[in-house]
Amino acid sequence: MNDLRGRITKDGIRIYEDADFAGMRAAGQVAAEILDAVIPLVKPGVTTAELDAFITEEVHRRGVISATIGYKGYKHASCISVNHVVCHGIPGTKVLADGDILNIDVTVIVDGWYGDTSRMYVAGQLGRKAERLIEVTHEGLMRGIAAVKPGNTFGDIGNAIQSYVESNRMSVVRDFCGHGLGLVFHAPPNVLHYGRAGSGPVLEEGMFFTIEPMVNLGRPETKVLADDWTAVTRDKSLSAQYEHSIGVTATGCEIFTASPADKFFRTWA
Ligand code: MF3
Ligand code: CO
Ligand code: CO
Repeated sequence: MNDLRGRITKDGIRIYEDADFAGMRAAGQVAAEILDAVIPLVKPGVTTAELDAFITEEVHRRGVISATIGYKGYKHASCISVNHVVCHGIPGTKVLADGDILNIDVTVIVDGWYGDTSRMYVAGQLGRKAERLIEVTHEGLMRGIAAVKPGNTFGDIGNAIQSYVESNRMSVVRDFCGHGLGLVFHAPPNVLHYGRAGSGPVLEEGMFFTIEPMVNLGRPETKVLADDWTAVTRDKSLSAQYEHSIGVTATGCEIFTASPADKFFRTWA
C-alpha cells in the first residue's frame, strides 16, 4: 500500500499533507485539459464512442493512466451521459442529435494521484429548459464549493446545493454521491448533495474529495439499466451534472480541476 500517509479522522477520512496538494493539482489539471480538448468535437452527428476514442488518445498522449478503464469491469476512458442519463453512460453507437445535452466525466491517475471531473456539453442548439437545468446544476456545485472551509460540515455542502436546486423547482439525485479521493479513486466520505446544515463530518484542512451534484428537471428517482452501469431518471426527465475535485485549505478550498481554458461551465458557444 502506497497510500498510507497523513492521518485518518474518526469518520475514516484521510488528511493529506501540504505537499500532496501539488500532486492533486497536476492530476486535476490533466483531467481538465482533456475536458477542454474534447469541446470542438461535440456536435450533432458524432457518436459517444468517437468522443471516448478521442479522450482515450488524449489520456495516452499525455502519458497518464485512465482510472476508469478496468475499474470494476468498466472498459472506457470516459462516462458520457446524454439527456435523461444521470451518470455512468457507456460510450457507444449513440449519435448525438441537435439539442442533446451530455455530461462527460473523466478520471486520470498522474503519479498515483486521481483527478476526477465532469462537465456539461451541448450538441448544436441548446434548448431553454436544458439551459436552465445546466445553469442551476453548475451554480449548485459552486454553492456547495463555497460552503467548504474548516469547521463547516459535509451537511453544509449538501444543504447549500439542495436548497438552491429546490428553490429553482428542480431535484437533487440521492442515489449517487461525491467521494473522497487522492491516492485512491473512491474513499470515505460519501459526499451527499443534499442534507441538513451542521450534519455530517466536520471539514478539516487536507481533506480531498469530489462534489458532483446530479440535478433532474423532474423527480429525483433513478434506475440502472440492464448494462449494470447506465443510470437514468425514472421519469425520463433531463438530468445534468458538474464535478470538481477539491482540497480543503486553511481558509476555504482549492479546486484542482479548474479549466485551463476557463471553459468549465460553458463548453458551448
Ligand atoms: N468518474 C466517476 C465518478 O465521478 C466514476 C466513474 S466509474 C466508471 O466517481 F467506471 F463508471 F467509469
Ligand atoms: Co467522482
Ligand atoms: Co467523475
